[in-house]
Amino acid sequence: MTETVGISLLGPGNIGSAVVAALAGGAERYALRAGRPLELRRVLVRDASRPREGVRANQLTTNIDDVLTDPGTHIVVELMGGEEPARTYIEQSLRAGKHVVTANKEVMAKAGGALLGVAAEHGVRLLYEASVGGGIPVIAPLSRDLLANEVTAVTAIINGTTNYMLTAMTQQGADYAEILAEAQRLGYAEPDPTADVEGFDASFKIAVLCGLAFNVDVAPAEVTRQGISGITARDIAYAAQLGSVIKLLARARLVDGEVEVSVQPTLVGRGEPLAKVDGVLNAVQIEGDLVGRVLLEGPGAGQGPTTSSVLADVLDIAQDIVGERAPRGGVPRRRLRVRGADEHVARYYMRIRVLDQPGVLARIAQALGDAQISIASVIQFDSEDQATEGTAELVLTVHRASGAALQGALEAIRRMDVVVEIGNVLPMEG
Ligand SMILES: NC(=O)c1ccc[n+]([C@@H]2O[C@H](COP(=O)([O-])OP(=O)(O)OC[C@H]3O[C@@H](n4cnc5c(N)ncnc54)[C@H](OP(=O)(O)O)[C@@H]3O)[C@@H](O)[C@H]2O)c1
Repeated sequence: MTETVGISLLGPGNIGSAVVAALAGGAERYALRAGRPLELRRVLVRDASRPREGVRANQLTTNIDDVLTDPGTHIVVELMGGEEPARTYIEQSLRAGKHVVTANKEVMAKAGGALLGVAAEHGVRLLYEASVGGGIPVIAPLSRDLLANEVTAVTAIINGTTNYMLTAMTQQGADYAEILAEAQRLGYAEPDPTADVEGFDASFKIAVLCGLAFNVDVAPAEVTRQGISGITARDIAYAAQLGSVIKLLARARLVDGEVEVSVQPTLVGRGEPLAKVDGVLNAVQIEGDLVGRVLLEGPGAGQGPTTSSVLADVLDIAQDIVGERAPRGGVPRRRLRVRGADEHVARYYMRIRVLDQPGVLARIAQALGDAQISIASVIQFDSEDQATEGTAELVLTVHRASGAALQGALEAIRRMDVVVEIGNVLPMEG
């Protein structure tokens, strides 16, 4: 029986270094969830003389064979990016009987079908949640939760850079060149933005989704592709007049037994859920014959979100490895104290009917103030109804307060002779 689940990392770069830090910081939690501690074994780099945070010098290697021949490595996590040598290393790892987790959309788009075949041949798993949509769970829902469906269409915003740029162009009425310069200054666009703005990145990702959704191999070059570099402020203004926004949509559909796949700037009606996905956010809308439409939305890139997806795959495989050797007991449930309503802290909306007399609002404000609750806004509605003539309705919102403070203040307000009725008191979100 293995005492640890061994992980070797190819590429401790932007994402890889965050994975190393999370493995160390969350060690206890992950050991409980996997059923065994996760152990970082080898770390493959180009330059082993440069120290890497959280990695011992004797863990660093520039030779993939050190990973392939390490009997303690059960899972290889590929975070180098690019097509080669990543593709070869993934295949070699699978052939060496190692499970593989990758965030590499290019490799999965160009060779995903073949590599999944190699994995199956060798009785190991190849998982790639982080390759599409960063932190959004989309691969696992397609391969598990929606498995009973015939997926008929996938429509997605899967490139944060272009979505940021189109959102900014829409909000500022600005042209492409100006917004590209701003996005580059803010780090949302690369110095060479071609892969993003010309739709190559999105075409890799939609090709990966085709494999899952329709079980077909679509080469990225087969995706009908148009970038956003030709979109002008005029197009966006005309789209607005037509009740639409322009989004770089990646779409895949099954039509009469054939596949239609595209990445194109598209007019999306303002009422559509995808029209409201703004800035660097990503979203994937899946249509299935049983479920109808499902929308998954969230952060499409970044260290935290991508690490979330990478480690979810690692833990999934680790649970399998441990489960094969010994039935997992499951993580024992914790018992934590459950807070009472008195302790809940929130902003609140409240509606109070009062006699229409001078000084009433001041008394209510005093009661709230006595309970350390400050008012955020007040609107007064005078009664137009005979039954409530001579009264007015105050709609107040207050800053964050505990349930106990709120109840205390409401008690004091209820006792006032000028208060007719306390209506709804509701917490506020957002
Ligand atoms: N960044 C994101 O938000 C994001 C989101 C989703 C998915 N991804 C995917 O995650 C992967 C990693 O992205 P990243 O941003 O972390 O890239 P990165 O910062 O460029 O890191 C790449 C790492 O791989 C190593 N490496 C590259 N080529 C190598 C080779 N031939 N041999 C050995 N090591 C090599 C580099 O080593 P050195 O340190 O020695 O240079 C570096 O540590 C990519 O597939 C990317 O598409 C990224």
